[in-house]
Order: sequence, then structure tokens, then C-alpha cells
Amino acid sequence: MASLSLEGATKTYKRPTPSSWRNMFSRLRGGEAGDVAVADTEEDLIYALQDLDLQIDDGESLSILGPSGCGKTTVLRILAGLETLESGKVLFDGEDVTTVSPQERNVAMVFQDYALYPHWESEDNLGFFFQMHQRKHEIPERVRITARVMGLGFETLLSQKPPRLSGGQQQRVAIARAIIRDPRTFLFDEPLSNLDATVRARTRVEIRRLIQRFGITSVYVTHDQAEAFTMGDRVAVMDKGRILQIDSRRQLIDRPLNRFVADFITVPPMNLLPGVVYREYVDIHDRKVTPPAIVLQQYQTERVTIGIRPADVVLRPDSEEDTIPAKVETVEPLMSERAVLLTVRVGRYTYRVQRPHTEHHEADTLVFMEIPPHNQHVFDSRGRRVN
Ligand SMILES: Nc1ncnc2c1ncn2[C@@H]1O[C@H](COP(=O)(O)OP(=O)(O)OP(=O)(O)O)[C@@H](O)[C@H]1O
Ligand SMILES: [Mg+2]
Repeated sequence: MASLSLEGATKTYKRPTPSSWRNMFSRLRGGEAGDVAVADTEEDLIYALQDLDLQIDDGESLSILGPSGCGKTTVLRILAGLETLESGKVLFDGEDVTTVSPQERNVAMVFQDYALYPHWESEDNLGFFFQMHQRKHEIPERVRITARVMGLGFETLLSQKPPRLSGGQQQRVAIARAIIRDPRTFLFDEPLSNLDATVRARTRVEIRRLIQRFGITSVYVTHDQAEAFTMGDRVAVMDKGRILQIDSRRQLIDRPLNRFVADFITVPPMNLLPGVVYREYVDIHDRKVTPPAIVLQQYQTERVTIGIRPADVVLRPDSEEDTIPAKVETVEPLMSERAVLLTVRVGRYTYRVQRPHTEHHEADTLVFMEIPPHNQHVFDSRGRRVN
């Protein structure tokens, strides 16, 4: 077990540029290397991580969410010691391990593809590390303990070769192969994305049980927001090599700190309306909407974005100065919520409104949306939260 942190972590990769491709092709054709000059300019660098700070407490489970290419895998590889930083530090229990080798860090990584040896029985896959390090005598006892930890039915997998196991079973073996080394930290990189929904849900619960039972510090990368919230005590939302917010599920939903997070967290999704602040109101679609007081105090004639969750929109029967007329496009029942979800259109913008299922709504009718100030999430022109 350990606490983990990154301090000012910056990691760059070289981007293959048209000129470097040309250079490579010219070399392949037997031409002179350097036919075409290649300049290593700033634009040639991809910032996979940009001055990133991250603190994960001992025994904590952190999930990382973010769009493809934002740097999630890079964070894990840096923590595991598989990549080196351009600048910044990696600390385990406050101790600088930036230059410590992956083996000495004692960190286990579980990937999307299980990377088991197909010709070996599962038991030999589990014992591989000890076999390699002249610690063969430890294998039987460790396998026995690990099988007990992995729970019901795991022992029957031990004598099988991976190709004969289902995806879920292979992933259990891969997890067991990580556990058997008694790591102080677990890093998961989309471990369940190859599995179908049912197995995925079951395996997720199993992993959560294991890491909680043993108080293992873990970092869990996923594209699936529901999964991120189940697996993590806190969730970090990343974009372009930076962490934009680390918070509990409640906070990410109730108080997104910037527009990107507001838009990215879609359980439930937020409507984002474009507005301009005037002395006494915010102009949204040529209507006068009242914002939280702080917006009028601080932001005059500035563009803002007003966020509101579908369930927080109020519908009025008639047009009033502060309501926004919208045309209902679709009405679908939301069985789990005893509600209906309306898609409504204002000009080229589409919004969602959630209403109790007892109300009757029809497509092609007009509704009048009221956006109550206390439910607004207001973001300034740079996307930062205002209220
Ligand atoms: N070995 C590499 N060489 C060059 N660029 C790389 C390399 N590895 C990653 N990158 C770049 O660094 C950035 C971050 O990559 P990373 O794999 O961490 O993203 P990710 O968030 O894990 O994405 P995904 O969700 O698609 O797995 C991307 O722009 C990627 O193209
Ligand atoms: Mg990745």
C-alpha cells in the first residue's frame, strides 16, 4: 500500500511531421538522410501531460475519465515507471521514485488485453514472475492464497489454458496474476472494455470488492462514466494532458468547475445555453433570464454559458419575459425515473427537459422554459465556473 503523487509532471512525445515522414521515406529509398531538414520545433511536440499535479491517498481508489488521447494511459505508465518524465516528480509515500525502475516500484498494471501466455495453463501464468526470479518455491502457497482471495470458482480456472476461457475468466486470471505479487498499488487501464455488459458489471463488483477488502491504492482508467463512479472514491476528469477537476460523483454533478467537465459528465447530461450578461439579466435566445446575483455583479456584457440539468428546467404554460419558447421534437419515457424526456429546439440549439411521467407532452407543440437561478451553472467566456 502506498500514497502516490505526481508533482508538476510534464511528458512530451514527438509528433511525426510531414517532413519527418519524408525523411524516413527518403532513407528507406536509400536517399541521403537529411535530404529535407527536420526542425524539432515546439509544434512537433505532443504534450501528453502538462505540469500535472495529482495526489492519491494511501488506500484510495481514484478513477480517471477523459476523451481519447487526453493522457490517461500516460499517467499510469509514468506511475508504473514505464515512461520517464521531461520534468516533475513521482512520489510514493512521499519518497521520490522518479528514477526508480518499474520492478522496484512494485506496482501492478492490468490492461484491456489480458496479455496472458496462451500456451500455459492459468496456474503457470500466475507463477511466471516467481519462476523468472528464481522464487519458484513460493508459487504453490501464493497460488493457494490468491485463489482464495479471488473467490468462488476461481480454482477451476487454474488448470485451463487461456484460449479455453471466456473474456471475463481471462480477465480474472490477469487480475490474479497481478494480485499474486502482492503489489502495493494497482493500476487498471480500461480492464473491462473487451467484456460484454453483464460480465463487465460482475467483474467490476469483484475488482471493487478486492481493492476495498485489502485497502489497496488503485487508479482506474475508463471511458465509461458509470464505471468510473463505481470504481473510484474520487474521479479525475482529464483533457489535453491536464486534470480539470478531481472530486466525488456528487460534486462533479452538482458543481462542475468548468464548462468542459459540465459538458463531459453526462450522467445526467447538462444543457449548455449561450448567453450575454447585461446590467439586470442575461440575454439567452433574445429572452431576459435572471442569473445568480454574482453573475450580474462581476460580468458585464460578457459572453457566458448557462448550464442546467434536464430535470431542473421548469416549464411554464404561457410565454413570459423570462421564459424561452422551444419546440418539442421528441418525447420519450424514462422508465427508471418515472419521467419523460423531451428534446426541444430553439433555433439551431437542441436541449433536453425531464418532466414527471404524469404530464402529457406531444411533439410539434410549443413549451416555455424557465431556467431558475439557483439551479444554474454559469461559466465565463474562458469556461471557468462563475457561481
Ligand atoms: N509512444 C508514443 N509516441 C508518440 N505519441 C504518443 C505515444 N504514446 C502516447 N502518445 C500521445 O500522447 C497523448 C496521450 O496518449 P495516452 O495514450 O496517454 O491517451 P489516453 O487518454 O490513454 O487515450 P485512449 O483513451 O485513447 O487510450 C496522445 O496524443 C497520444 O497520441
Ligand atoms: Mg489509453
